[in-house]
Amino acid sequence: MKPFYITTPIYYPSDKLHIGHSYSTVSADAEARYKRLRGYDVMFLTGTDEHGQKIARLAEKKGITPQAYVDEIVAGVKELWKKLNISNDRFIRTTDDQHVKAVQKIFKQLYDQGDIYKHVYEGHYCTPCESFWGEHQLVDGKCPDCGRPVELAKEESYFFRLSKYQDQLVEYLESNPEFCSPQSRLNEMMNNFIKPGLEDLCVSRTTFDWGVPVTFDEGHVVYVWIDALSNYITALGYGSDDESDFAKYWPADVHLVGKEIVRFHTIIWPIMLMALGLPLPKKVFGHGWLLLDGGKMSKSKGNVVDPVVLCDRYGVDAIRYYLLREVPFGSDGIFNNEALFNRINSDLANDLGNLLSRTVAMTEKYFDGTIPAERESAPLDDELKTLAENVVKQYESDMDEMLFPNALTQVWQLISRANKYIDETMPWALAKDKAQKPRLAAVLYNLCEALRMTAILIEPAMPETNGKMLAQLGLSHQPWDALVWGKEETYSVTKGDALFPRIDIPAELARIEAETAAKAAAAQAEEAASNAEPIAPEIDFDTFCSLDLRAAKILSCEPVPKSKKLLKMQVDLGIETRQVVSGIAQWYKPDDLIGKTVAFVANLKPAKLCGVESQGMILAADHGDAARVLFLDSELKPGSTIR
Ligand code: MSP
Repeated sequence: MKPFYITTPIYYPSDKLHIGHSYSTVSADAEARYKRLRGYDVMFLTGTDEHGQKIARLAEKKGITPQAYVDEIVAGVKELWKKLNISNDRFIRTTDDQHVKAVQKIFKQLYDQGDIYKHVYEGHYCTPCESFWGEHQLVDGKCPDCGRPVELAKEESYFFRLSKYQDQLVEYLESNPEFCSPQSRLNEMMNNFIKPGLEDLCVSRTTFDWGVPVTFDEGHVVYVWIDALSNYITALGYGSDDESDFAKYWPADVHLVGKEIVRFHTIIWPIMLMALGLPLPKKVFGHGWLLLDGGKMSKSKGNVVDPVVLCDRYGVDAIRYYLLREVPFGSDGIFNNEALFNRINSDLANDLGNLLSRTVAMTEKYFDGTIPAERESAPLDDELKTLAENVVKQYESDMDEMLFPNALTQVWQLISRANKYIDETMPWALAKDKAQKPRLAAVLYNLCEALRMTAILIEPAMPETNGKMLAQLGLSHQPWDALVWGKEETYSVTKGDALFPRIDIPAELARIEAETAAKAAAAQAEEAASNAEPIAPEIDFDTFCSLDLRAAKILSCEPVPKSKKLLKMQVDLGIETRQVVSGIAQWYKPDDLIGKTVAFVANLKPAKLCGVESQGMILAADHGDAARVLFLDSELKPGSTIR
């Protein structure tokens, strides 16, 4: 069997993964499943990239070891992939002992052969991205990748001589344009990063220790990219006692990566491999991002879409279908609930679900579930058959290029054609005439054939639906070479549940809106609770009564000279007029106050504020960093007691 090696990026376990991360993995999974069906010996790798300062800091904040921290998150990552039916053959963690040892070997070899050297480095460091940047690389003085502020840092580090391999890399990329897809991404790399001249890369750190230790220099740990990129070969046993998988699967057929890390995969990784004397991967495929209407998903914006919630609510295959169908592969796409529900209702429930349920229901109704052998074809049948055969060809070519939306669009052409075939042949009319039974049998047989082929074609995208459809058609798993029209002799069908329940879109959107509002309110309440002052120690009623609280009407108000904060007021207390000074000038102008009735502490010992006598106090409540005066009903008589 021909090997096929496909990888996803290894994910940072800094937090729960979101729907954008799921997009990479579901795409790789669809391709891996497709290649398996085509008879390849597939190795599908995913995993986690667990080292670095960011993880160490997060663990510290939680008061646990980095290892305990990543163990917990990685368990969640594995759960998510299970839920999404990800069929990875291997899961690498950069904390795996074998990976650590192999990275140490790689680092030592590169050092011994002079490709890694020690140097004192000064630069701008972006902590979240764990990247050093030269002055000229900064954008408006900030990190060019994430736009966050950078810190000046100086460190003794090991450097990897990227510059030495510049010409070799350019030559390789120019003579192998298929190395990077879409090709526009390669042009971007060439023009922006490679041709202006490659700078040597900092590949060790001494400021933290959560990383692979450099064996020959205590205090240094291998810095992110050498550690991370090596996963693609260490997962195959490279650098261990058993390199048989490496011999079998390397070079990789495709590294699937998000567009922002294409750079590392088309510059650092090929150079590492050149330096190690290893063949280069056949392709780096840079996909776009799944964005939200308002931009990127981020925890700080509170707009992260949780794939677990989506799968639980709408079903795994609906989510897989949406991800693969909606985003033009290679470009960015927008995640949107309404678009998801429209896809579910129209493509899945209506087009596909109805085709199956109508066909099965009619077969049960007219033939007790089993299509008789006596069948009469008509020229119209050939149209359906030819279309199905063409769809298979086009689908295969799209899947070979990882053009998932195109491949699925092909399948939906077959589904639409089959639905139209029902309208054209009108089985319910044929059923009324006994003489037409052989024609009716042929029509239902052809529909079952179209459904069977559809089931096979959608397996890479929707493995569960494939099984459900075949079960209703009375079949077990079908291999790829069963994609031949007329392969089944007949069908014995059994009705099952609807493949995809329809969604009441307005109700569902309203539910989500209410849920989002409730979540936001809960988050706000939680924040308020964590910021709130604790309740003061208990007092008895007499102590409370010792406070003389009155309604007071503000008669006049003016700023206290030379003070930005103080206002001087005359207030009517019924029995007398008082002068009071209050520190509310930042939030109230005199006109906002004159004529208003406020809550007033009448028996407070007089004090001087900025040299101005204050006899009493106007009550106000904290409002964030501001204050809000307690205004009372203006009908209250000045001097009324408050209790
Ligand atoms: N650890 C590195 C990869 C090392 S590979 C040797 C990394 N990790 S990551 O967790 O930040 O991102 C993993 C992948 O998820 C990247 O390919 C990234 O592009 C992808 N995505 C993260 N957010 C995404 C979207 N919103 N949409 C699509 N893909 C997204 O980078």
